[in-house]
Amino acid sequence: MPKHTNLTALIPSRHPLLQAPMAGAQGAALALAVCAAGGVGSLPAAMLSPESLKAELQVMREQARGPWNVNFFCHTPPEPDGAAEARWREALRPFFNEAGIDSAAVPAGAGRVPFSHAVADVVEPFAPPVVSFHFGLPAADLLARVKSWGSRVVSSATTVEEAVWLQAHGADAVIAQGLEAGGHRGMFLSTELGTQLGTFALLPQVVRAVQVPVIAAGGIADATGVRAAMALGAAGVQVGTAYLCCPEATTSRLHREALMSEAARHTELTTLFSGRPARGIVNRLMRTLGPLNPAAPAFPLATAAVAPLRAHFEQLGRSDCSPLWAGQNASGCRAVPAAEITAALAGGFD
Ligand SMILES: Cc1cc2nc3c(=O)[nH]c(=O)nc-3n(C[C@H](O)[C@H](O)[C@H](O)COP(=O)(O)O)c2cc1C
Repeated sequence: MPKHTNLTALIPSRHPLLQAPMAGAQGAALALAVCAAGGVGSLPAAMLSPESLKAELQVMREQARGPWNVNFFCHTPPEPDGAAEARWREALRPFFNEAGIDSAAVPAGAGRVPFSHAVADVVEPFAPPVVSFHFGLPAADLLARVKSWGSRVVSSATTVEEAVWLQAHGADAVIAQGLEAGGHRGMFLSTELGTQLGTFALLPQVVRAVQVPVIAAGGIADATGVRAAMALGAAGVQVGTAYLCCPEATTSRLHREALMSEAARHTELTTLFSGRPARGIVNRLMRTLGPLNPAAPAFPLATAAVAPLRAHFEQLGRSDCSPLWAGQNASGCRAVPAAEITAALAGGFD
């Protein structure tokens, strides 16, 4: 297989720049703004109901200028485990007591559903130009269905092994997601955090190991970061955190304030909000329980018990129990239109 390093030949946008899909922090508005500015805007679908997904896809199809991306998770849902759920609620008991919430009355639930044929039924009429996945790829028949629409398929690798696996299983391009990245680690071949590499170490090794274009992600906040990634062999970049304070994002006020404060300098990987490691700004829940507390149940089951606590403290204007997803480099966050962030980043391709 010859080496392909031209991302815009595969995904014909003006800049080889993907705005990272960020579930819970944005919808079509941010994606459209990035598309209009010459990047590839992304619609995160992991937390959308079929009805909302359809509505957002309609907006993208009608209004997007240039190629756009829709993003799904493809984890295997865990078996419900009553004992694990009870241990989790016990670990959270001091918070439930403080909030005056009866933990027994809080419904268990998943919150995030993986890509499936039922979801594909919703997506198919829209034939999105790009479909990206987190946590691997869907099963071969489902992936073949996505490719039959003409969609380009992209997924995140956090190790060289994952990048090689993604290429072998049909990814048209691979995102090298360095340890600096905000939000969930896309890891899927190992659960061992010691396998995870920073962008500077991961990117050139992935570039050497695969023939498909490699998109660098994690800690890229400005044109200099883009230039560094391109110098290390990236065919393009994916940027998330830097877009979080744009007016087109739906990032909460508390989250924006944390991103713009010195608190953003201290992020950690935590399993407390979903069950899988994800990077966010350290808050009271993470400090109290420890960010990787083993009582957190399997992904995505940790979310349900934390949800009412999050809502309680947010009502008081506090982010004690809120996931404040952010990468290690929030220095690119500015409260300016996404077009401005996109233009600044694109300067790194000159
Ligand atoms: C708030 C937030 C939410 C995220 N949600 C998703 C998601 O839904 N799907 C996904 O593939 N990646 C998600 N990510 C990870 C990004 O795809 C990407 O790896 C990361 O933003 C790149 O690092 P950076 O944040 O330092 O730019 C999220 C990141 C953040 C900051």
